[in-house]
Amino acid sequence: MATPISELDIPAVSFDFADAQEHRQMLRDISKQSWIAKGVFAYPIFTYEDCVAILRDKRWHSAAALAASAFGVNDPRLEERRRESILSAEGEVHTRLRRLVAPSFSPRSADRLRPFMREVMNSLLDPVVPAGRCDLASDVCDPYPIPIICELLGAPKEDWQLFSRLAEQVLNIFNVTSTEQLTEIFAAQDELEAYTLDLIADRRNKPADDLITSLIAAEEAGDKLSEVELVMMVQAVIVGGTDTTRNQLGCSVALFAEHPDQWKLLAEQPELAPKAVEETMRYFGAVRATGRFASEDIEYKGVLFPKGTLVTPALAMANLDESVFAEPDTFDITREPAGQPQMTFGSGIHYCLGAALARAEQQEALPLMAQRMKNLRIDGAVTWKPSTVAIFGPEKLPIAYDPS
Ligand code: HEM
Repeated sequence: MATPISELDIPAVSFDFADAQEHRQMLRDISKQSWIAKGVFAYPIFTYEDCVAILRDKRWHSAAALAASAFGVNDPRLEERRRESILSAEGEVHTRLRRLVAPSFSPRSADRLRPFMREVMNSLLDPVVPAGRCDLASDVCDPYPIPIICELLGAPKEDWQLFSRLAEQVLNIFNVTSTEQLTEIFAAQDELEAYTLDLIADRRNKPADDLITSLIAAEEAGDKLSEVELVMMVQAVIVGGTDTTRNQLGCSVALFAEHPDQWKLLAEQPELAPKAVEETMRYFGAVRATGRFASEDIEYKGVLFPKGTLVTPALAMANLDESVFAEPDTFDITREPAGQPQMTFGSGIHYCLGAALARAEQQEALPLMAQRMKNLRIDGAVTWKPSTVAIFGPEKLPIAYDPS
């Protein structure tokens, strides 16, 4: 007989911690005692094996669509406007969407953008490098992903500002605390939808070498994406690809600032970039956990999770699991790949669709920064996003360096 999760004797996660460091240490200590713990809204899962098992088990469904209601905002418009997004779709609906769009997100299509990524990063570094100091979060990380997403989609340069504003407003869906805010988010979604429909109409007439054209053309066995699905894919790219990228870059540079020898090594050997990106994402990933709810009663490891139970696979803890990563607390950008990948892109059917693009963005950005900002050090108080947010990173990251 499986033991109901509510009766299991497991440690409780405390929300009484001073900062992100203490939070991480507390989770790390608990993860050494138990594969699961009791949180306030959900049960965190700590080990690599259990995170992968749950993320690959299709009875556990994505909690992405529950973000607003998790913050206590239960506006009827949320249900009325709900449309299927790849981020939250499950079962055959998800399989079909993923099959249709996956070829458009291949490593080859990401590689096409590498020269542009370097151009964007250089243009952000040019004004701040000579001064020898900057707030890396606002000066470099925040603006970095928008031009790349625009270039990916095929949106022209004059629309970068507009796109940046719409992305910011749409992304607020993860921090929504009031119905007024929801009204603003819906208005931004409508504006983005109108913009995307224009872009689609334009590409139907004049196909180009971009994601919109590729998604319009995507077809399998006579099946194609509808117009609404195309619009939702663009939203998913913005929601999935902007805040993640900028925060991961911030986390990675903050980590390098604590390991100057590794920063120097990357500047000297930029060919280490692919390994460096896997290692920074393993050691300090911006997405530290994701959410799943039980779509039916689920028995796992002798425990019964009743339908509706929420669990949070703690990707950051799985990345420190010593049964997979030797000496997990050592940060080493020359680390040989473990048998299994780092978990910051997730696992299973919702595994990051933009992983190739995200890897390319970090692989191009980090060595450039290491070469142009030598002798990197923290230069003032770093402030972090609240430790419990879904996408974690520095709000302010004052750094100093020797211009080069
Ligand atoms: C360093 C940057 C990134 C990180 C850390 C990251 C992380 C993740 C994670 C953990 C998931 C799975 C979520 C879950 O299982 O609940 C995911 C899914 C997704 N990501 Fe990323 N991501 C990054 C960049 C990107 C980029 C650049 C794009 C777009 C071009 C993107 C698009 C998506 C999409 C569309 C999904 C949903 C896939 C599906 O549900 O089938 N991501 N990402």
